[in-house]
Amino acid sequence: MLKLIWLLFFQAGSIWVGWIKETVLSGDLSSFWTIQPSTRNSWLLNKLLKLRGEIYHWIRLRVRSGTSTRFWTDNWSPFGCLQSFLENDSNFSLGIQDDATVSSLFIDNHWILPQPRSDKQLELHVFLTTLELSSEDDYYEWEVEGKISSKYSTGQVIEMGTTNGVFLFAL
Ligand SMILES: *[C@@H]1O[C@H](CO)[C@@H](O)[C@H](O)[C@H]1NC(C)=O
Ligand SMILES: *[C@@H]1O[C@H](CO)[C@@H](O)[C@H](O)[C@H]1NC(C)=O
Repeated sequence: MLKLIWLLFFQAGSIWVGWIKETVLSGDLSSFWTIQPSTRNSWLLNKLLKLRGEIYHWIRLRVRSGTSTRFWTDNWSPFGCLQSFLENDSNFSLGIQDDATVSSLFIDNHWILPQPRSDKQLELHVFLTTLELSSEDDYYEWEVEGKISSKYSTGQVIEMGTTNGVFLFAL
């Protein structure tokens, strides 16, 4: 199951991936993290959606132009999912829409975020000052415990999963 999720992000050529991407995600992989399980979906797709949290932190989105990176829900920042990172901040929406892209928050060479009102928001601001957008495309990288790889290894995933205590149910 986890390998199917991996395929979705890293094997663009397969027919299954093309079908899911176009018909279910409307061409946007970022939607995989946000769509809700539904009785209209296949059993398999709903199963993958239930498992997505287990693999989220290993599917990193590298920001270049920021145009296909969703600020709140993609795994692009050192803090992981910003929606989770800032969930306990009062006013945590910062006036930023759910599906806003990173590039949409950078206008005329400035980040258009409100003044930070918590330590976490301050950390985010500091990080953003180090981030430079370019004209290249954003891209995904598979990074398990600090190691970037182009291959999926079931052994590695099970080892890391059991180390972290998240995959015990799967064994
Ligand atoms: C938010 O608060 C809840 C309840 O206090 C806590 O369990 C959770 O870990 C907090 N989330 C973050 C990201 O700190
Ligand atoms: C949160 O937002 C409300 C209304 O938008 C504002 O009155 C309040 O001062 C904000 N609080 C903080 C801590 O920013």
